[in-house]
Amino acid sequence: MTAPAHRPWLDRTLPVAERVALLRAAMTLEEKVGQLVQVANPDPVRDADALAAGAFGTCIVASGEHAGNVRDAGTQAEAVNALQRAAVESSRLGVPLVVARDVIHGHRTVFPIPLGQAASFDADLVRACARVAAREATADGVRWTFAPMLDVAQDPRWGRVAESWGEDAWLGAHLGAAAVEGFQGADDAGPRGDGTFAADALAACAKHYVGYGLAQGGRDYAEVDVGPRTLQNRHLRPFRAAVDAGVATVMSAFHTLDTVPMTAHEGLLRAHLKGDLGFAGPVVSDWDAVGELVRHGVAHDTREAASLALRAGVDVDMVTGAYGGHLADLVRSGEVPEELVDDAVGRVLALKVRLGLLDDPFTDPARAARVHLTTEHRALARRAAASAVVLLRDDDGVLPLLAPDGTGAPARVHVTGPFATARAELFGTWTLDGRGEDAVPIADAVRERLAGTEVTVDDGRWPDAALVAAREADVVLACVGEHPMRSGEANSVTSLELPPGQVEQLEALARVSRRLVVVVVTGRPLALGRLAHLGDALALVPHPGVEGGHGVVDVLTGDVPASGRLPSSIPWVTGQVPLHHDHLPTGRPLDPGGPVGRYRDHQDGPMYPFGFGLGYAPVEYGALELSSSRLEREGRVAARVRVANRGDRPTVETVQLYARARRASVSRPVSELVGVRRVELAPGDERVVSFEVDHGLLAHRDAVGHTCHEGGRFVLTAGPHAGAGSSAELDVVPAPHGRTAEPGEVPTHSSDR
Ligand code: BGC
Repeated sequence: MTAPAHRPWLDRTLPVAERVALLRAAMTLEEKVGQLVQVANPDPVRDADALAAGAFGTCIVASGEHAGNVRDAGTQAEAVNALQRAAVESSRLGVPLVVARDVIHGHRTVFPIPLGQAASFDADLVRACARVAAREATADGVRWTFAPMLDVAQDPRWGRVAESWGEDAWLGAHLGAAAVEGFQGADDAGPRGDGTFAADALAACAKHYVGYGLAQGGRDYAEVDVGPRTLQNRHLRPFRAAVDAGVATVMSAFHTLDTVPMTAHEGLLRAHLKGDLGFAGPVVSDWDAVGELVRHGVAHDTREAASLALRAGVDVDMVTGAYGGHLADLVRSGEVPEELVDDAVGRVLALKVRLGLLDDPFTDPARAARVHLTTEHRALARRAAASAVVLLRDDDGVLPLLAPDGTGAPARVHVTGPFATARAELFGTWTLDGRGEDAVPIADAVRERLAGTEVTVDDGRWPDAALVAAREADVVLACVGEHPMRSGEANSVTSLELPPGQVEQLEALARVSRRLVVVVVTGRPLALGRLAHLGDALALVPHPGVEGGHGVVDVLTGDVPASGRLPSSIPWVTGQVPLHHDHLPTGRPLDPGGPVGRYRDHQDGPMYPFGFGLGYAPVEYGALELSSSRLEREGRVAARVRVANRGDRPTVETVQLYARARRASVSRPVSELVGVRRVELAPGDERVVSFEVDHGLLAHRDAVGHTCHEGGRFVLTAGPHAGAGSSAELDVVPAPHGRTAEPGEVPTHSSDR
């Protein structure tokens, strides 16, 4: 198709940058500003004038109230097509919109919350879930998702830990990058060689840049204070990985970081993200965050807020209207240079070109019925749900419920608790397009699998009646945990205990049950100290999604190996948090075998460490062997460990490699995750698992993001979780171009990532 002479940017054969330049050059200042305005839920009739004027360039379909926790009417291809038709046909230049929505962990097919996907430690699974979410959401006309969330969450009082990949930056970086690839279509869809996306790909958004996971006291939106090295090594790490994976957009966060609101943080946005890290896409503010600069006390009014945010590097104003109201005037008065507007517009237009919207903004209305909740998507959701189940305790092998050949089902099973019959509550936070009626409750899945067993069910409303049924059963499955409204945005808690009354009910059940299996469905790592000896088995399941019932029962029966691992440490009591495996050493380390810790009233360490999770077969680890005890200047060393399945069931072992620098220019964590390998082991199987260790793996960042390759002695540990494993020492010769930061040194520039 040749482009009409008056719209040369429609020529598909031109490179993206040229099309963008042609279109931008044709725009008035008002039209350019319009591209930077994002509105919520526009309507082609009600907003006809604004559409004709090109007064907004992108929109979000969202309820806006109780973000992520209230289901709304959603969107459909016809509605989006009507909107696009109005934008394209009524405006002077015919520029289509980008329709955005929070597609966080699935669309119609709801996968486990990100914290649950993280429990798989499986980047391929995360990538596959995001790919399906994109396929489904694009069928409803959505082309931009505000995911993945990359905030490293070390304080589970913060409700948004549900949306995170857990406490570890390495895991967050790897799983976050995989999610970006999945949404954007790494393999079969865009971004293709020319930077364009396929029609079933979503533009991803790395959020919330940066440090939001440190909200003081776990109170959402609260201030953050963090030193520059911790910011670089922990909180910026997943964002660097997302940029390297080609993430299309980034969202700036709500909070203040060291007194500067992130929406106005020129140093971290324009200088670091867009400068040092070379991020070339648009940065979008969080919801109304430009307007909130007034409440943060750094702007008099929305006019000043618009100026601050644009200068800082926020390209798109989500819903405040500050850009639409004031930017043109700010440019005319000389307060904001027009080049900054041009740069921002170029980023937005490039996104539109890359998404193919200039070529075809419409969605086939028949596609949703073909791609939503297909058998294949359900199967993936079931696999993901099973991978999210973390088995924490299994006294006397009460689990799995069935023998390896599928026999041995208990004669009577009672399923009780609020999650016995729950449907939509299995989804967790941020599931705008999931439908409760699609979900498989745990009790239904038990009945389906244990066909010959007498299965009784109660939803926990009458605790006394549950006790009567429990006494009659051979096995009681108590399905307790958190309602989704207890986690997610603006849903923080001061107590990480189970919700009120549940422990008491479990204690009562434990007194009368022959065998009690406790399944805790949750949006956060809870403090499980009171369940340490309660019942016979304990499993933690981050909200598992539409196939939650099947996934949980697949693991409890042993049809699928128990393979989930904790992406966050589990504390005994709330007062221990923040608690994470990669803390720094103190000058006065605790004696691990000693009777006391730093707390007068409790032990210091976690109840279950990061990375922990039982399988149904004992796995034996050999000694960690290094191909050389010295890592040369340009060298690589192989770290190998033998793992053997000594049980009678297949198992999936998640072998984890941790590193510790004995001496560096700054104090480094006592344990840093540097590698993960998931291996399937049939009964009797033995495998040698190998990790390649190079300087990059052991490097850290200085205060402005320079990579520091330091020499010295490192301890490598391979094992089943952060609290166990076999170690070997490695002498590292500093890398050829490495630099060694000195304590307290603040370099003045940053060039590498
Ligand atoms: C949240 C974001 C979300 C946005 C749009 C905000 O309240 O912090 O994560 O993407 O709303 O719904």
